[in-house]
Formats: sequence, structure tokens, C-alpha cells
Amino acid sequence: MDKNEYLPVRISTLKEGILLGFDLYIELPHRLLMFVRGDFDIETERLSSLKSKKVRKLYIKEDDEEKYQQYIDRCLEVVANDPDVSLGEKTKVVMGASEATAERLYDNPEKKASYQAATNTSINLAKVLRSNGDLLKSIFDHGDTSEFKDKDSLMHRHSVNTATLCISFGEFLGLSPEEIEALGIAGLYHDVAYGKSAPDIQKLYFKSVNEMSLDEQKVYKQHPEIGRSFLNEKNFVNPLVLELIFSHEEKNQGNGFPSGLKSLSTLQEIISISAYYDRSLTCLGKTRAQVFEEFSTEQLGNYQLESIKKFKSFIKKSGL
Ligand SMILES: [Fe+2]
Ligand SMILES: [Fe+2]
Repeated sequence: MDKNEYLPVRISTLKEGILLGFDLYIELPHRLLMFVRGDFDIETERLSSLKSKKVRKLYIKEDDEEKYQQYIDRCLEVVANDPDVSLGEKTKVVMGASEATAERLYDNPEKKASYQAATNTSINLAKVLRSNGDLLKSIFDHGDTSEFKDKDSLMHRHSVNTATLCISFGEFLGLSPEEIEALGIAGLYHDVAYGKSAPDIQKLYFKSVNEMSLDEQKVYKQHPEIGRSFLNEKNFVNPLVLELIFSHEEKNQGNGFPSGLKSLSTLQEIISISAYYDRSLTCLGKTRAQVFEEFSTEQLGNYQLESIKKFKSFIKKSGL
């Protein structure tokens, strides 16, 4: 059997007791072997035995991609609505599934299946955040970022956090479900250029622009355009998502990049503010209080006063 026809799925996205709907395979030294048949669920003992053997991934047939997405929906639905599942457990499941999506689109940004997974994740995040008022805070409290050994995982986390903020802030402002969905997808994709960049360019994502040399700034400032280029001219992509990926680093005074826009739409402000806020926390290691303060100091004028006011009351209300 040809391994190219199979897709890896993270063990952390699988939940016991929920009908799979697709066959699961395990990787042996020279081949893939059927592990659980699709008309069964995965049992607790089998799941724990994989975890104890440090198996991180199983495989599904590429054609079963959609069934896997439906399975993730079912898992999230069950977890989100179960009063017996603790907030910590809910957060783990939601973050596990969302970070797996982020990893997929960083690895294969141009693929339709990645875009579909991002759409699914955006819709699911909106749904679980709406029905669990304290989830947003729990996501931001979840796991100290210093525990991350590799920078790639940190970027996947940044991608999910930005999407989460975009969605919740969009909800707070009363945007339409279509706008919120597009914000969530763009939030997941906004820094996708990172995935295909050389290691010395990847390092720049963890450095403040003020501390970069002029050459470094020049390279770093290309990332919104490179990110958009993976999805350009694909008929399955919402044009609003493309625009938001392209403008996520823009500010209101012409001091953003790549276009130096002088006036941002509401949606452009939402993604720019959300990406800025989480980059400061997750990639630059600042505290929430520091970033909050920056909106009244160095970021003053970069966004409309009214938007900053609303973002601050949203942050306070969410307990961030
Ligand atoms: Fe960015
Ligand atoms: Fe970012």
C-alpha cells in the first residue's frame, strides 16, 4: 500500500467511545496496518497503550478526510455539551483539535483539505466558545508557553490563539456568522508563511520588529504577501479571507505593512489587533498587563480609539 494515499492524524484528536466512521491505520517499520475498523469506536485501553508507547500519529485514507472532520465535529460536540467534562478537559480537546489543524495548514498551506479543515475549525471554535463562556480565558491560561520545546508548536498555538481572539472579539462586536467564520480562518492562516520559511527567517517571528536589522525587517515584512500567495486564485477560498491574511499587519497610520494602509475596515482592525495581542504574548513573551498597557501608549493611533476601547472592555469582560 502506498503511504502517499494516507494522511497522518494526531492521537490527541481521537476520543474514546465515539464511532469513528473511517478506518484507522498504525505505522509499522515498512507498512501501515489496520488498527481500528471504521464501524467501531476506539477503546480507552488502546488509546492509553498508544500514548504509553509514545505513538503520536495514526493514519487514515486520504479519501476519508471528510469523515475524519465529521468525527472531530462529533467529538467536540460531545465534549462541549457534557456538563461532566471539566473546563480543563474541554480546553485540552478544543486546543488539541485546533492545533492539529494549524499544523496541517502550516505543512500544506495550498491544499484544499487544509482550507476545509481550517473552515471546520473556525466554525467549531465559534460554536464551543459561544456555549462555554469561560473557555476563552481557559485557552489563554492553558499551558505556560515556556513549556514548548519547539518553535513550530508555539506558532501553531499563536495561530489558534489569534483565531480564537478574532472569533470572540467578532462575537462581542455583534458581527455576522459569515464574517466571524472568515476571521477565524484568516486567524489560523495569517502567519502561514512561517511554515515554508528558512530557519533564519523563522527566527524573526520571535523577535520584535524594532530589534530587527533593516534587512531582517525587509524579509519579515513579506510574510503577509507570501501567506496569501498559497491561496491566491484558488476557487475554494473566500476572497475576504485572502484580504484579511494580506492585511493582518496593517495599522491605521500608514505604519503597518505590506501596503501601509491609512485606514482599516472593522474586520482588518480585528485581525490586526488580535494578531498583535497574541504575538506579544505567545511569540515575544510579554505579560497580558504589558500588552494591555501598550494599547494606550505605543499602539495609540494605530487603531481607532473606539476600537481600542472596545477591545479593552472585551479583554476585561473575558477575564484575560
Ligand atoms: Fe504576521
Ligand atoms: Fe502573527
